[in-house]
Amino acid sequence: MGTKSASSLLTGSLLTGSLLSGSLLSVYNISKSYPGVQALEDVSIALKPGEVHALVGENGAGKSTLVKIISGAEQPDSGEIRFNDVVYPHLNPHLSRKLGIEVIYQEFNLIPSLSVAENVFFGGREGRTPFVNYEKLISDTNSLFASMNVQIDPSKKVEDVSVAYMQLVEIAKAISKEARFLIMDEPTAPLTISEVDILFSLVRKLKERGVTILYISHRLEEIFTIADRVTVMRDGKIISTDRVADTDRKQLIRHMVGRTLNETFPRRNTQPGELVFEAEHLSGNGVQDINFKVLAGEIVGLGGLVGAGRTELARIIFGADKVDQGVILLNGRPVSIPSPHEGVANGIGMVPEDRKNDGVLLELSIRENAVLPVIRKLSKAGFINRKRERETVGRLVRQLNIKTPIS
Ligand SMILES: Nc1ncnc2c1ncn2[C@@H]1O[C@H](COP(=O)(O)OP(=O)(O)O)[C@@H](O)[C@H]1O
Ligand SMILES: [Mg+2]
Repeated sequence: MGTKSASSLLTGSLLTGSLLSGSLLSVYNISKSYPGVQALEDVSIALKPGEVHALVGENGAGKSTLVKIISGAEQPDSGEIRFNDVVYPHLNPHLSRKLGIEVIYQEFNLIPSLSVAENVFFGGREGRTPFVNYEKLISDTNSLFASMNVQIDPSKKVEDVSVAYMQLVEIAKAISKEARFLIMDEPTAPLTISEVDILFSLVRKLKERGVTILYISHRLEEIFTIADRVTVMRDGKIISTDRVADTDRKQLIRHMVGRTLNETFPRRNTQPGELVFEAEHLSGNGVQDINFKVLAGEIVGLGGLVGAGRTELARIIFGADKVDQGVILLNGRPVSIPSPHEGVANGIGMVPEDRKNDGVLLELSIRENAVLPVIRKLSKAGFINRKRERETVGRLVRQLNIKTPIS
């Protein structure tokens, strides 16, 4: 269906040559709105064959929406998409995949109970008999991994490999489908430094094979390592596209936030206040003998590699996991925080790493999620005071500049 409408549109193309010549995929004047939000406004971008093109922008800038339009998951309100010199008013997931467009989402699309090998080739062999030659599957996967220079046991179940390796399995999956255009949405977020190296050498290898990569990341230093060009989005619009060699960190941030770096993070002279938090010989959940203090008004960074225990430490402080030994003092008083509920009652908030699973209830609205920790304060005799709920959420949306039609 998509192909037919594409060919009929081919003759009436609005596309002008100069912007798009030599590009594998380009979108032209794409707009997309959701109720109350203009997610994309007149977005045009052209991606050259074999380039690594970084896409950056603050949360809500429109990056994911653009990805969804390219993958065919969403349809634009207006504009066109051109792939390999064929013009499409919009794509659909089937057509997009047929063109060789593959997306590696932050939430992986793997089946945990199946083996790595089955996942790699899952869906990639449509039309074949359901009776899979398992040995061949394993050896195909092995040779694919060898060409990618990664070591994963193809017979392992996906649920038994680390998040980093799931990422590599996703990429292997895309390669097995002979992707020509690969979109990676923050691929390094769950990776350790050495795994990032593996990923980057893989990206370079794909590039050598002529695969075009759209690379979304918040880590600007990565972009300077791996990307050829970088596009900045803000408020649904394209702000700039530059060769990485022609721009710098400062300029990218200025384009992303619309102000200079100094205005965004002004130097402040603050006097740390009194002692608020203290961990004494804190152990549990895989962390051992942790001691540190936090003063009022301080921002304390907790560094370390994946697996170092940062998340685990945060979870025991919040009450999500058990303290085995040691003590937490709040305002000088030892407290016991056996549950997140007690954590919240003690004035502790937590934004977890895996927001989709641990941070929000996806089936509830933004309004309901926002007040979840204080729902009891807003309720009487089991009934939520809707007026107070609205006021509370409205205040939060304004204060935090949350992009949602709720106000
Ligand atoms: N399915 C949706 N329904 C309503 N609003 C949406 C939807 N998806 C995205 N948005 C809104 O569109 C804007 C762009 O979002 P998004 O593309 O996710 O940005 P980014 O990926 O850059 O963070 C935001 O204001 C977001 O709230
Ligand atoms: Mg996004």
